[in-house]
Amino acid sequence: MNVLIVGGGGREHALAKAISTSIKCTRLYAAPGNPGISKFATCIELSSENNEAIIQECKRFNIELVVIGPEVPLVAGLADALRASNILAFGPSAAAAELEGSKYFARDFCKRYDIPQPNFSRFTDNQKAKKYVDEMGSECVVKADGLAAGKGVVVCKTKKQAFDTIDMMLSGGFGAASDTIIVEECICGAELSAFALIDSEEVIWLASARDHKRAFNGDEGPNTGGMGAVSPSPDETNKLREHIIEKILNPVAKGMVLDGKPYTGILYAGLMLTDAGPKVIEFNCRFGDPEAQVILPRLESDLLDLILLHCNQAQKDAVIKFSNDVAITVVMANKGYPGSYEPNSIIKDIDLVSLNTDCFIYHSGTAMNQKGEIIAKGGRVLSITAKAKSYQKARLEAYETVSKINWENGFYRTDIADF
Ligand code: AMP
Ligand code: GLY
Repeated sequence: MNVLIVGGGGREHALAKAISTSIKCTRLYAAPGNPGISKFATCIELSSENNEAIIQECKRFNIELVVIGPEVPLVAGLADALRASNILAFGPSAAAAELEGSKYFARDFCKRYDIPQPNFSRFTDNQKAKKYVDEMGSECVVKADGLAAGKGVVVCKTKKQAFDTIDMMLSGGFGAASDTIIVEECICGAELSAFALIDSEEVIWLASARDHKRAFNGDEGPNTGGMGAVSPSPDETNKLREHIIEKILNPVAKGMVLDGKPYTGILYAGLMLTDAGPKVIEFNCRFGDPEAQVILPRLESDLLDLILLHCNQAQKDAVIKFSNDVAITVVMANKGYPGSYEPNSIIKDIDLVSLNTDCFIYHSGTAMNQKGEIIAKGGRVLSITAKAKSYQKARLEAYETVSKINWENGFYRTDIADF
């Protein structure tokens, strides 16, 4: 069958690499894709946010299945539009994707279904928000309600920082996405990302990962979309997994059905492992980026098979096998990210970098210039994954590959998986 992957980042590169190996995949397309993805798929110059154009291209290329990578098209209803045109779509409806699209919806949902989470309140008024901060006392977290590319969350250490953040967000700091904000209790613990495949009330655990969200070593600096990841999380145990399924994932799936918004596709629950048990930090309605670059290389069964069974309401029949190896990925970003940066610097000879087996360079924000050189266009540009028997070994291999990449304008954390 012909398959289209929507998106053009490292996550979509990982999806393309995995799906391209399936015998069921006849032709693979990506919209818009990137130079890395173009080694596995035909890239179509098309915005991932133009539903109508995507449907037209599906008809033109006889595409039967669309795998939607990023959250923006999901929240904008691409899966619904495809299904209405009788094209299979992997990803939730816009109504279900609200779990990611509105942080208030997610918080209110958890409250209604008794899913563990920090205390919170929603505001559109500065003074009321500041009064709540006053009442909470010390640290708090201020979040834009809507989508902000992973940057709309500020963990505030002082009251002044909280007040400034409230003013910044409510005066349009993230456009309409921060017209409404959430102020919530700051909770502590290790973070764990849980990935499940959900079809209405049916939940299949896939894998765990640990993201490294801050820009700099030692978890310093601003939040980013993710500067590196490992899978599985070093905190995953059978007991913890069962607990997360019972107390969080199953109640989410059931609650969404009761709300009349049955969830389908990947659910990514960002959790904090507090002394009082795991609590929800956020939900995402898709694979993570860069988590996909560590989860998918560990998947030994056929990803396309799994997606097709899921889309045909038969995910229970899927054989899902993950390698016992661990994977780590190191993100290389443009200097200045997540703030402003100088785009379009050249990454020299990236195709000539020698790769050990089980190492791979995923492209995120790359493009090709007119001379055919790879340039660094976006904030996060590459993610370098290594898979090995231990975190230590995977770390050594990933960083060895990173050291071979000839890109002056890049930076990366040197402490990914250093535990
Ligand atoms: P989010 O985009 O909601 O995942 O938030 C980004 C990061 O902010 C998370 O990975 C946490 O490190 C941090 N964070 C978010 N909410 C909280 C919270 N209530 N307490 C402590 N840290 C938080
Ligand atoms: N790495 C975080 C995310 O994909 O949202």
